[in-house]
Amino acid sequence: MLYCIPMSNTAQSPNPDTRIPIPESRYPNPDTRIPMIITIDGPAGAGKSTVARALAERLGFRFLDTGAMYRAVALAGIRQNVDWDRPEELVELTGKFDIRVIGPKVFLNGEEVTEAIRTSEVTVATRYAADNPQVREQLVALQRAAAGSDDIVTEGRDQGTVAFPNAQCKFFLTADPKERARRRLRDLQSQGESVTLEEVLSAQECRDREDSARQFGPLVPAADAIEVCTDGMTFDEVVDRLEMIAD
Ligand code: C5P
Repeated sequence: MLYCIPMSNTAQSPNPDTRIPIPESRYPNPDTRIPMIITIDGPAGAGKSTVARALAERLGFRFLDTGAMYRAVALAGIRQNVDWDRPEELVELTGKFDIRVIGPKVFLNGEEVTEAIRTSEVTVATRYAADNPQVREQLVALQRAAAGSDDIVTEGRDQGTVAFPNAQCKFFLTADPKERARRRLRDLQSQGESVTLEEVLSAQECRDREDSARQFGPLVPAADAIEVCTDGMTFDEVVDRLEMIAD
């Protein structure tokens, strides 16, 4: 509790009974202000990235796409021709490479790889990064460092459970698997990849299974997460809903 001493009393030693208590929140100390962290977890294709980005923009928060970090490690592994059966090679690479996610852009050792990390080849290889506990440990540390003392909206699989368990507001976004696959198909086709809905659906089921079964940082809603199923909602409706809850 802070106390306000009336001006007329300042010349004398204050009588504790005349002190007017004021609530601390009216005088926040910028040095001790706790940053607001909003986590959005959920399966692939639930629209987390676009929703998280829009929510961050509306609230004036920073946005952190943690899937991009796992993808960047996988891309580094592909480029360095690592032996996927030797997990320690990927751990070493993760420590050596400089991975940065700055807004919507992703950099690997200073080179922009925003588009390069979205190919199907990288998506498939990403599981070697995601399944590796020591890579996860390094990336969680990177995520916390990237958040710093800013207000952020961060999205991934383990943001509310592992990376930011004390986040003030946690969401778990889901959607019908077919709808998720249709969205992913549209994304891949716009990148010039020729795949069918069945192929995307089957790869997605496999990814969901792996993400949920993982021993470290699995895809599970945090006990205090609010689950939002986006079926039948427009993009704006989803963002409105999250914004209203976060407020
Ligand atoms: O979100 P996105 O599809 O880009 O993530 C790529 C992969 O990275 C996911 O399938 C998941 O295996 C992994 N991932 C993770 N933990 C996170 C974010 C992503 O394991 N926080």
